[in-house]
Amino acid sequence: MANAEREQWSTSFGFVAAAVGSAVGLGNMWRFSYLTAEKGGAAFVGLYLIFTLLVGLPILLAEMTIGRGASRSPVLALEHYGGRSWRLLGVLFVLTGFLILSYYSVIAGWTLRYAGELLWHGVPLNPGDHFSQVSQGWPAFLFHVSFMALTMAIVAGGVKRGIERVSVIAMPVLFVFVCGLALYAATLSGSEAGYAYYLNANFTNALSMDVVVSAAGQSFFSLSLGMGAMLTFASYLSRQSDLPREAIRIAAADFGVAFVAGLMVFPIVFALGVEGDVSESTLGALFVALPEAFSSMGLVGRFVGVIFFVALIVGALTSAISLLEVVVSAAVDGWAWSRGRAVIVAGGLITLIGSFAAWDLALLDAMDQVANNILLLLGALLLSVFVGWVMKNAETELAQGAGRLNWVGVWRFLLRWWVPIVLLFVLFHSVPKTLSNVRNLVFGLD
Ligand code: TRP
Repeated sequence: MANAEREQWSTSFGFVAAAVGSAVGLGNMWRFSYLTAEKGGAAFVGLYLIFTLLVGLPILLAEMTIGRGASRSPVLALEHYGGRSWRLLGVLFVLTGFLILSYYSVIAGWTLRYAGELLWHGVPLNPGDHFSQVSQGWPAFLFHVSFMALTMAIVAGGVKRGIERVSVIAMPVLFVFVCGLALYAATLSGSEAGYAYYLNANFTNALSMDVVVSAAGQSFFSLSLGMGAMLTFASYLSRQSDLPREAIRIAAADFGVAFVAGLMVFPIVFALGVEGDVSESTLGALFVALPEAFSSMGLVGRFVGVIFFVALIVGALTSAISLLEVVVSAAVDGWAWSRGRAVIVAGGLITLIGSFAAWDLALLDAMDQVANNILLLLGALLLSVFVGWVMKNAETELAQGAGRLNWVGVWRFLLRWWVPIVLLFVLFHSVPKTLSNVRNLVFGLD
């Protein structure tokens, strides 16, 4: 490909905003809270933080190093450094992107609907019934299609004029909203029980393999790792950028938003006495418990609810953009398609696959588990082996633009040994478990 024509971010903040936009999304608010509730509070959060620092950060740097070094889409970037057979890993990335975006967009569609409903008619009378009505079937499908249309419109605008322009506005707004909601939650009487639940560790829980696997999966999902999203975004960086500095900013912002989202969700849920809904902790917990809480706050609740769901939409949209961009950049670089054509074909297919998830919540759950507990972990494992063992000049490439780094040796060592061993261990436990969960979900066996 003619690299001279390749677009680049216009500022370093533009890249960080887009990458944080990719990282911060439904994963930080919806998935993080429901997993924390299900897996036992602070012990899960602690494990998730450990995975983020010791496994997530090295992989994030690995993706950024390959992406910026090759300035190509994932498939061609891997081929560039590793030869033809490594293209297959790029193909796995693109397929994972398809799978994740197709169900992610269905959930994002729910948030779109909820924000609109709260704005026009207020909180539904019975949030539980309401959720089961709108989360599946035609209503879910229509909002899924609208959300995909929005995502496609932005990606069609290109890197600078689409993705970057939206991210530099959306991310600050999201930060302000989430922090504002957390502060508001602190003023509610009875919120202490929420903090106690969220921040008190129950370590017997954290020792189960199931919790370890979920914490690992969540750290990848939340940082958008294991399928080339960060690789693709880094491919639009200039060679002067300081990768370690940007990576730390991205990881800090991502963990920060998840943590603050917990400081908002749990106090609200406990102060208004709807924790029963959350501890049942299905996919829909937040979509039932929070509206229930909002409804007992009257008009304020309606206002708070709109802010909450708008924050979710903003987060989901900037994440969806990055998922679609992986697929689009692969078609643009690999087959010399125009961006518009790639957006229409890829977006159309994803919308189609997502329709199945829109009609069947169990299928949606199964797709989420396969993507997170198998595909992202596998992608990250192969990626760390690639940068640890195959890529020749990884250290120099990482240090380019960052000055002398005396810990690059440690980074390479982590990617060679520590990360693959941890991931193999996690996969060993998660593959059989996930496959049996999926069988139960999809075929309804017990
Ligand atoms: N990180 C996003 C979230 O937390 C989701 C996401 C966007 C993602 N791009 C990704 C997950 C790539 C895995 C891989 O909501």
